[in-house]
Amino acid sequence: MQRLIVANWKMHGTQAEGAALAARVATNLRPAPPGVDVVLCPPFTALDRVASALAASGLRLGAQDVFWEDRGAFTGEVAPPMLTALGCTHVIVGHSERRAHLGETDAGVARKLDACWRHGLTPILCVGETAAERAAGQTEARLHAQVAAALEGRKCPKPLAVAYEPVWAIGGGRAAAPADCAAGLAVIRGVLAEMWAECADDVACLYGGSVNAENCRAFWEEGAADGSLVGGASLDPAAFVSICRQASLEGRAWSR
Ligand code: PGA
Repeated sequence: MQRLIVANWKMHGTQAEGAALAARVATNLRPAPPGVDVVLCPPFTALDRVASALAASGLRLGAQDVFWEDRGAFTGEVAPPMLTALGCTHVIVGHSERRAHLGETDAGVARKLDACWRHGLTPILCVGETAAERAAGQTEARLHAQVAAALEGRKCPKPLAVAYEPVWAIGGGRAAAPADCAAGLAVIRGVLAEMWAECADDVACLYGGSVNAENCRAFWEEGAADGSLVGGASLDPAAFVSICRQASLEGRAWSR
């Protein structure tokens, strides 16, 4: 399996700023590093310009969300065919910030996965427990419930990545310990093995939450992650390029 490194720029940058950031990343990752898939997920408004900046780079384009219908009276939403027309191959689905601030539910997340699959997009399903759930010893149950709700009744093989993103580790610079990462990913892989037995090994399982150029390797080596979902550090081109290069070098001798 290739490693997968995903940049989640969140709500940062104009079109021009996004194009400049993408161009810097692409220039510094040319030729595209072997053994790793790199996906940039800018805000919707920058997708077009970032797509141009990535042309012929071998790097991929992703969106941060998608709606579950293909068209219609859904003010403010963006449909999967609109994303594929822009050149997107991946979509982040169910990010904890959307679950917390925008009322995203497990049921909605499942519909969004179906919408991705109808259009050949690879969803990056985000799951993770809050600090309160962790303190209450509910991490395993929460991860199990989120992954099971997303896959219930869906047959594999379908392209999928799952990102374990402990909510308490996001954004604040307080990354999880690699052992926490390994434990969370073991739960996720367990659900995949139960529900998608024939293709569980094809699902890239990532870690996200305060990943940077200094700690990324620990999550792949000790944390058993197949890659990273990178927020804040992906806005720093030098840091993000370093993460991608490290993933590639490690990737050569790496197997799960
Ligand atoms: P962070 O964000 O790297 O800034 O913690 C990760 C994410 O939310 O995907």
